[in-house]
Amino acid sequence: RHLLQAGAALGGGLVGWSARDLTHDRGAEPADAAPAPAYGGEREPFHGRHQSGIVTPPQAHALVLGLDLRSGVDRAGLARMMRLLSDDVARLSQGRPALADTLGELAVLPARLTATFGFGPRVVAELVPPRHRFDFAELPDFATDRLRPQWGQTDLVVQLCADDPVTLAHTRRVLLRDARVFARVRWTQEGFRRARGAEPAGTTMRNLMGQVDGTVNLSERDRDHDRLLWSDLPGLGGGTFLVLRRIAMDLVDWESLSRSTREHTIGRRLSDGAPLTGGAEHDAPDPHAVDDRGLPVLDRAAHVLRAQPQKPDERFLRRPYNYTRDEADPALAPDGVEAGLLFVAFAADPVAQFVPVQQRLAEQDRLNEWVTTIGSGVWAVPGGCSPEDGDYVGRELLG
Ligand code: HEM
Repeated sequence: RHLLQAGAALGGGLVGWSARDLTHDRGAEPADAAPAPAYGGEREPFHGRHQSGIVTPPQAHALVLGLDLRSGVDRAGLARMMRLLSDDVARLSQGRPALADTLGELAVLPARLTATFGFGPRVVAELVPPRHRFDFAELPDFATDRLRPQWGQTDLVVQLCADDPVTLAHTRRVLLRDARVFARVRWTQEGFRRARGAEPAGTTMRNLMGQVDGTVNLSERDRDHDRLLWSDLPGLGGGTFLVLRRIAMDLVDWESLSRSTREHTIGRRLSDGAPLTGGAEHDAPDPHAVDDRGLPVLDRAAHVLRAQPQKPDERFLRRPYNYTRDEADPALAPDGVEAGLLFVAFAADPVAQFVPVQQRLAEQDRLNEWVTTIGSGVWAVPGGCSPEDGDYVGRELLG
């Protein structure tokens, strides 16, 4: 213990000394040279064929905004709003203040800011011109859903992600300022992963049940990636669909289970996410494996077996975030804190790719005993926009 204390004292001293030393060294640089920003200075492109925030490696924080258009806002109004918001994000994502940004100092660290905009079924049915309109319905009801209207389908979704929560707060502020006359916020869903840099880049995230979550996912290395992710519907080229499910977890009950029960619920190990049938995280589970008594290792109702594609197209990109919420619904939060997963998925055709999987999970999945879907929505996500003057997200679809 003494040694540890001495070490801590020495460590503290050393840190203090080296910091002073660094400050000293900088005296040799031009007086106005700012220290190079760390992660805060990193940028994701805003312009391009696809919107960012989809294949972007997930940032640490997310703010997902559900907005409804104000009554009387027509196609021209929506286009005006999208032009303003696109311009805001084009600037903020590159570390520049938005137009008339009176808090411009908050814009200098974009921290890989991305914004992903989507239009709900009502907008597509009523505001998209007939030549670009497509069949687009809300998600069907699933037997295990316990939906709360407060987290329901909205006209618009804006998924903001960044490695820094101050950047997100400022971005939300700017976007809502410019959206205010056209739309009002129905809900905001805040999500998080581990802090940027807390673990090596590329580490699969853990959800709040403690599981490694996201191992088997649609990857850019997959030969069907583009076909399964990007839509080719008229007006939606380079776009996709975003599904958001707000799923509350019963952590009190979950924590009372044995480790083995928890692992069999999913079919993978808690320690490293490897299949219970052996191997490492990225190995596939063997559904036919038996133990030394000849009994199947994997429960047929284990989450990974139920979620596995039964047809090659039943795959999508999962990009979830953890969430917690105080003052939550007491039915969902015996300790006063609701915890869960903002399950975000992207697919070129959610009806063919997402719905059958969700249907199968609703029919049978051991996980259902500890998770409850309380919010749900689906939005068409237009392709990206170009830096050309006057281009904006959604122009092709609305034009
Ligand atoms: C796999 C957790 C909801 C679809 C997994 C895995 C975990 C997990 C731990 C194994 C690691 C991995 O491959 O990612 C959860 C939790 C959920 C949830 C805690 C709710 C709170 C859902 C939902 C869907 C879904 C709603 C889709 C409707 C999948 C898929 C896989 C998967 C497709 C990969 C299956 C495969 O091995 O091919 N999930 N999940 N999950 N989950 Fe979930």
